[in-house]
Amino acid sequence: MIRGMTELIHDVDLADPQTFHSDLTDFWERLREHDPVAWHPPRGDNPGFWVVSRHADIMAVYRDNVHFTSERGNLLVTLLAGGDSAAGQMLAVTDGHRHRELRKIMLTAFSPRALERIAERVRENTRRLVAEAVERGTCDFAEDIASHIPMGTIAELLGVPASDREFLLSLTKAALSSDAEDAGEVDALMARNEILLYFGELVEQRRASPGDDVISVLAGGEIDGRSLTEDEMVLNCYSLIIGGDETSRLSMIDAVRTLAGHPAQWQLLRDGDVGLGTAAEEILRWSTPAMHFGRTCLSDTEVGGVRIAAGDIVTLWHSSGNRDASVFEDPYAFTLGRTPNKHITFGYGPHFCLGAYLGRVEVSELLSALRTFSRGFEVAGAARRIHSNFLTGFSSLPVRFEPDPAGLAHYHETRGARV
Ligand code: HEM
Repeated sequence: MIRGMTELIHDVDLADPQTFHSDLTDFWERLREHDPVAWHPPRGDNPGFWVVSRHADIMAVYRDNVHFTSERGNLLVTLLAGGDSAAGQMLAVTDGHRHRELRKIMLTAFSPRALERIAERVRENTRRLVAEAVERGTCDFAEDIASHIPMGTIAELLGVPASDREFLLSLTKAALSSDAEDAGEVDALMARNEILLYFGELVEQRRASPGDDVISVLAGGEIDGRSLTEDEMVLNCYSLIIGGDETSRLSMIDAVRTLAGHPAQWQLLRDGDVGLGTAAEEILRWSTPAMHFGRTCLSDTEVGGVRIAAGDIVTLWHSSGNRDASVFEDPYAFTLGRTPNKHITFGYGPHFCLGAYLGRVEVSELLSALRTFSRGFEVAGAARRIHSNFLTGFSSLPVRFEPDPAGLAHYHETRGARV
């Protein structure tokens, strides 16, 4: 460690959402170079924790579920509070045999056939929302488009009836959104309880008449000869919303904002000079909506040559790992055609994101709709940043479109032909 590095991390409180309103590029670059496994000292009531900033070290911790556990929380907020009440019940905060069995059950609802059906709905939904917005000329991309796509996808996965979706969307906004600094904690808690009650009712219904959705799969699932409890089912339904709603939404919003600021890259996409799948990966690397995840050390070990003791909290910073020059050539360049692109946006190892395929579909369908219906777009007002130490991105993005009349006309013809 060089002199001055201790001071560097002393100046930056990574537990404070306010920290992420500043540009941390220089901070991360210096940590990666000089103090890649850094000790973040205790502050106020918060204990200290390790900050891992290099891509290789982050992957090493993710891979190692012998020395590290998720069962005491996997986000700073729960790790610092001393644990997660859903530990051992909800997939992301369950480890070992139980995690493997629960993941296996949930994966049956992610069969290629089910995913194909959901991907087709994502496609229809995205094309309709984008076509309508482009025709209007302006929109708040976050509110009018991005907020509807991930919740629509998760609702499909869960088999939530179409008539309940707006209701669920309003509850999840109140329960989880990191929109405002003064978001009411009591309202959020009440909304969370309502969501859990709602899923409790759906579980009852699916027990009586199962389908091929996640809820039915969970209701029929057994681990070591025992059915899942209602709490386990409800928590794991809810976990799809926690995992898949805001993360995907923020990536999509960032895609539009970044493309509007990089006209040459947009042109490559529009002209078909770069594939949608490849472009989506760079959008996911660039946006890195989940800035960190974390683990607790179970027995003494080393990360990047630094000794980590049993009981220590270790945080893994994707926002730094995804800009690591030892893995990404010219990491601060937004390059849609980047290959390979080994970003860690979806994590790595046994807890690798269950919804990665759907997250990728959502971003690439958005890119496809944008390039079909619009010649270009610009940010038409102030974008509002979210306030969080976990997620990063924007909750409001006014956009003005330049329509592509041929793309829109073709869309209406083919839709008309199908009706
Ligand atoms: C796990 C990121 C979309 C459901 C994870 C993890 C990351 C992540 C980094 C690993 C957490 C850890 O190791 O502690 C993202 C991002 C997304 C996204 C950036 C969008 C761009 C989704 C979607 C769904 C989903 C669409 C559901 C439909 C989950 C679940 C887990 C998970 C259930 C826990 C997996 C396990 O513990 O085995 N996600 N995710 N995610 N994600 Fe995602």
